[in-house]
Amino acid sequence: MTDTTPRTDTPPPVQPVDLEAERRAVGPALEEAVLNVLRSGRYVLGPEVEAFEREFAAYAGVAHAVGVASGTDAIAVGLRALRVGPGDGVVTSPFTFFSSAGAVAWIGARVQLADVDPETALLDPERAAAAVDGTTRCILPVHLYGQLCDVVALRALADERGLALLEDGAQAAGATRDGRSCGTVGHAGTYSFYVTKNLGAAGEGGLVVTQDEETAARLRRLRDHGSPAKYVHDEVGTNSRLHALQAAVLRTKLPHLEAWNERRRAVAARYDDAFAGSERVRPLARVPGGVHAFHQYTVRVVGAERDAVLARLAEQRIGAGVHYPRPVHLQEAARGWGYGPGDFPAAEALAERVLCLPVHPFLADADVERVAGAVLDAAGRA
Ligand SMILES: Cc1ncc(COP(=O)(O)O)c(C=O)c1O
Repeated sequence: MTDTTPRTDTPPPVQPVDLEAERRAVGPALEEAVLNVLRSGRYVLGPEVEAFEREFAAYAGVAHAVGVASGTDAIAVGLRALRVGPGDGVVTSPFTFFSSAGAVAWIGARVQLADVDPETALLDPERAAAAVDGTTRCILPVHLYGQLCDVVALRALADERGLALLEDGAQAAGATRDGRSCGTVGHAGTYSFYVTKNLGAAGEGGLVVTQDEETAARLRRLRDHGSPAKYVHDEVGTNSRLHALQAAVLRTKLPHLEAWNERRRAVAARYDDAFAGSERVRPLARVPGGVHAFHQYTVRVVGAERDAVLARLAEQRIGAGVHYPRPVHLQEAARGWGYGPGDFPAAEALAERVLCLPVHPFLADADVERVAGAVLDAAGRA
């Protein structure tokens, strides 16, 4: 007789994001919410977006939330709302998704980079202070991987030098530091709801939060061609309105975010245990007073080839990633910003060493053990 049972020597994949599992958890509710919007005929802004803005503001403990089309637009519109314009300097991190710096350049402002703390990969307030010059108008810290920068120190710096503070919280939905969430210490803060984020839309979406009513009013105008009322344009803005369909998706998922983030933290704690004492696999440091959202669980591979470790994991169908393999200042697009190799040693070393392991809410404990074992094994041999 022929054996027709499938071969079981190939382990199942461990993915960085599991949208199928998410659909199993909230799929019917998402479908209902989306259908309701389709039936309402209100597709752009409107009551669904307003409800999401209210609910997210309450969740994040911030006075105002303004929905926009993406996390990138949130930064661009946020900068404009804080009166940053062409030629103004904005101090940000060289170790981030390109969008943080790209949005600065896109509005004609000048990117001023300051190196990160090599232990946390977060913008270092002292180096940020050293990068401030007479042209600087704003500091844009990036809450990388789901951990908040030292916003209190950065706010003190901003106040001392008369600058705006805009927090890039694209990766930090649900994170807090000393009990405060992204955008509550700065003059404003931004979020991204790209599909793979902790709170992901069914496509693109973003949000700017602020405690200041006037900034909120300006954000609302700027996302809609500077328009306070139909066919009245007080200033030049853009079209960056959040869609009601995305707001409906986000409203459906928001009540789950805390539990999902809690599960991310439990997964991270298992990884921490597995890597405790390893010389070669070193998790990034955690900030004091922080509640981490673990958008990524990131280790540094030391004394072994990171890319060889990555390749071994891929062979075992483990979806690890490198965020980010090339720092901002070494990108072709950054040519002309006045930086070169060696300018930001911490960012450059991290780009060579970081490895981000699967850390989503639907990961089973057995998968975490398998990934951790595979990483330790690969780093030992790589
Ligand atoms: C740190 C950071 N800033 C900004 C963005 C831009 O967000 P979006 O992709 O929604 O435009 C991202 C998205 O990945 C990000 O990770």
